[in-house]
Amino acid sequence: MNKKIRKAIFAGSFDPITNGHLDIICRASKIFDELRIGVLHNPNKKGMFTFEERVELIEKCTNHLDNIKIVSFNGLLVNYCEEHGIDTLVRGIRNGTDVEYELQMAHMNKELNPNIETVILATNPKYSFISSSLIKEVLNFDADIKNLVPEVVLEELKRKTNRGK
Ligand code: PNS
Repeated sequence: MNKKIRKAIFAGSFDPITNGHLDIICRASKIFDELRIGVLHNPNKKGMFTFEERVELIEKCTNHLDNIKIVSFNGLLVNYCEEHGIDTLVRGIRNGTDVEYELQMAHMNKELNPNIETVILATNPKYSFISSSLIKEVLNFDADIKNLVPEVVLEELKRKTNRGK
């Protein structure tokens, strides 16, 4: 009997990818046969990085992993999964606030498509306070963020903003 290939997706806006995201990606890539990184493509939502820039940064940070595929999606994530034979959503949780939010999303996604499971990984505690938005905020004040984002992201943030260490 053929073994089932387990395909999962880790989705987000990744504006930009952080060490916290990367930690979840590396760990999920060991659990699943194939891991897609779903980059939200919403032309109406302006972030610091364009869609193409966000994808390029993710590519550079994950090129050591051989079962990763970076894809774009818009609309409902469960619909993307249904169309592409993906049965698991991977999410990371950092704290109690995330637990509430992620449970609500998992329950809504279960309602929308009962065939798709959400697997929640606890963030490595050393990244528990990191978020893309907080990184952008502290960067405004020239903070040292070198432990919070991959090196290519740090260089790009410094180039874009003329700030940061
Ligand atoms: O970067 P984030 O905020 O962690 O990403 C959240 C994201 C993009 C995964 C979530 O908002 C999402 O799945 N959006 C697509 C639309 C959708 O399916 N909404 C229903 C979620 S219950």
